[in-house]
Amino acid sequence: RGKRAFIAGVADDNGYGWAIAKALAAAGAEILVGTWVPALNIFETSLRRGKFDESRKLPDGSLMDIVKVYPLDAVYDSPEDVPEDVKSNKRYAGSSNWTVKEVAESVKNDFGSIDILVHSLANGPEVTKPLLETSRRGYLAAISASSYSYVSLLQHFLPIMNPGGATISLTYIASERAIPGYGGGMSSAKAALESDTRVLAFEAGRKGKIRVNTISAGPLGSRAAKAIGFIEKMIEYSYVNAPLQKELLADEVGNTAAFLVSPLASAITGSTVYVDNGLNTMGLAI
Ligand code: NAI
Repeated sequence: RGKRAFIAGVADDNGYGWAIAKALAAAGAEILVGTWVPALNIFETSLRRGKFDESRKLPDGSLMDIVKVYPLDAVYDSPEDVPEDVKSNKRYAGSSNWTVKEVAESVKNDFGSIDILVHSLANGPEVTKPLLETSRRGYLAAISASSYSYVSLLQHFLPIMNPGGATISLTYIASERAIPGYGGGMSSAKAALESDTRVLAFEAGRKGKIRVNTISAGPLGSRAAKAIGFIEKMIEYSYVNAPLQKELLADEVGNTAAFLVSPLASAITGSTVYVDNGLNTMGLAI
């Protein structure tokens, strides 16, 4: 039987989540996605109307099949955690069972088990503010949506992951080097995510024979990245300064993800793997 993957954080065809879904589909995996509740409607409508058909094309000419789209808000673990104003919000009230615990239960009821879990989501409401001007609430919100969301997903999905399975997340070099402009506690959130990758690799390895890695990706003009405000500058900086002076394609991250969750990477766990045209290795670029 082919492998089954759940990819959290797909809401259009521009981001890393979409590229990872495609690479896994091309390798024969069955694709399930988790889509942020407020973005669900437009994503499903676009999918249904064929708006993504061009970008659903796989190398063999067939179209990637997304077997099921689950509404998800990874900031909430179970229904008890959802505040009243969110519950009654029009965009949320139209969907159900979108807390992490409920999504894992739904996937279990629908399919029984998965082999691959991908976390490709982040959110920092104050990302445009320097850390020095970030509020406690903004900082904690960044950590909640971008770091704890991964702990929670793995916590709830591990029981339905087949032994030998693997999970990955996406991180950014701002966790270890100062990147002015990547604010609001997002740099802190990525540092937590990378540290958690090592600890979760140990725990999930021992508990369920599951591998845990994270990809430190270079800049991509995704929807989330455009919200930060200076993504074009980051892309240009990389183009000028990286060892490989070429555009970084989302598919290159997708391919690395497919490798990392495959048996080819059977001894790799707890790692941060750079897919950034080598930019992270530079001190002074000339
Ligand atoms: P994206 O916009 O395609 O993906 C982010 C997704 O997170 C969106 O689909 C959004 O709806 C979802 N999301 C936000 N809050 C959520 C929540 N509470 N629950 C569920 N889903 C939620 O953008 P991108 O850039 O592809 O982001 C994917 C990952 O890649 C993120 O972890 C990001 O930090 C990371 N990354 C991105 C880089 C870039 O330059 N674009 C560079 C390095 C890492």
